[in-house]
Amino acid sequence: MLDPIAPSRPAAIRLSFLRKRFAAGGVTALDDVSLEVGQGEVFGIVGRSGAGKSTLIRCVNLLERPDAGRVEVLGADLLSLDEAALNAARRGTGMVFQHFNLHTRRTVAENVAFPLEVAGLPRAERAARVAEILPLVGLEARRDAYPAQLSGGQKQRVGIARALASHPRILLCDEATSALDPETTREILALIRDLRDRLDLTVLLITHEMSVVKAICDRVAVMEAGRIIEEGRVFDVFTRPAHVTTRRFVAEVIGHAVPPGTLARLPAPAEGQERRLVQVVFAGPHSTRAVVSEASRDFGLDINIISGRVDEIAGEPFGVMALAAYGPPARVEAGLDWMKGLGLDVTELAP
Ligand SMILES: Nc1ncnc2c1ncn2[C@@H]1O[C@H](COP(=O)(O)OP(=O)(O)O)[C@@H](O)[C@H]1O
Ligand SMILES: [Mg+2]
Repeated sequence: MLDPIAPSRPAAIRLSFLRKRFAAGGVTALDDVSLEVGQGEVFGIVGRSGAGKSTLIRCVNLLERPDAGRVEVLGADLLSLDEAALNAARRGTGMVFQHFNLHTRRTVAENVAFPLEVAGLPRAERAARVAEILPLVGLEARRDAYPAQLSGGQKQRVGIARALASHPRILLCDEATSALDPETTREILALIRDLRDRLDLTVLLITHEMSVVKAICDRVAVMEAGRIIEEGRVFDVFTRPAHVTTRRFVAEVIGHAVPPGTLARLPAPAEGQERRLVQVVFAGPHSTRAVVSEASRDFGLDINIISGRVDEIAGEPFGVMALAAYGPPARVEAGLDWMKGLGLDVTELAP
């Protein structure tokens, strides 16, 4: 797999200072957005509904024209191209949609061939391309089926095959799994990642679900109100989210909100002692260290593990635990400081 650190690789997509305001509604959908996606990366953009994600991804193939800024794709400055050159450049990117956008009266094979038909490819070449691409998405047996006869996952496989029909170097996915159940979502994400590896694609995907980012992305940008508020390697963003919005997104996947009932059942601290509730994120070399037993032994604390889980993000181990630490205030403080000194992310939960 490619090293997911972009700057060492040439950019496949470079967006600079994009602005887009919709007169209808007076909404600024993009407010000075710059972004660089390296070749071969799976880059995620996550944000709530209305953050500007679709507008941003639609600028990459100029389905949406920004009011200002620069759009460079595979080295071409798209806003400077005439119609013919732009259409040629557009064939370098394929797009996958949330609701598949299939022609209901066309078969699987005909849906996949459709963009090639529009591009004026002869019938024989279209057929050859369809025969080549359907096995890549596992649909060769369903080539003559109609969309209504397919499951949601199969429909999206058709959408992906159609997006790949013109041999693009870049795949744009706008909420490609948002209409699918969790199991099918996992399958489709695995397929996209597999296609990235096999076809050496660059993937830009947008989603409102951090679990999608965790499953597939190398890097991620978080959008809010038309701006990118945080950006980085997925592992770093998950283990050290800086912005409050990012923290909320991350918490949806790895969060440990302690249920109020559990809090009520926790023993009160003894006389002269205090109880501190903290979330500890273990990453890198400390993810497998016996931090709890060390803290309890070396600082004389009683530590109650309220919840905990060990996981892997972008192939790196990390763990997250909610702990209740009991002891004399100074020793509890020293124990938590010791954890922070190890580089663990320690945040105070409810009192
Ligand atoms: N064609 C349009 N006309 C007017 N407003 C639009 C249009 N497209 C998007 N918007 C507005 O721009 C903002 C960003 O929308 P969008 O890019 O679709 O966000 P997201 O994909 O993150 O949900 C929203 O407030 C939306 O209502
Ligand atoms: Mg959208």
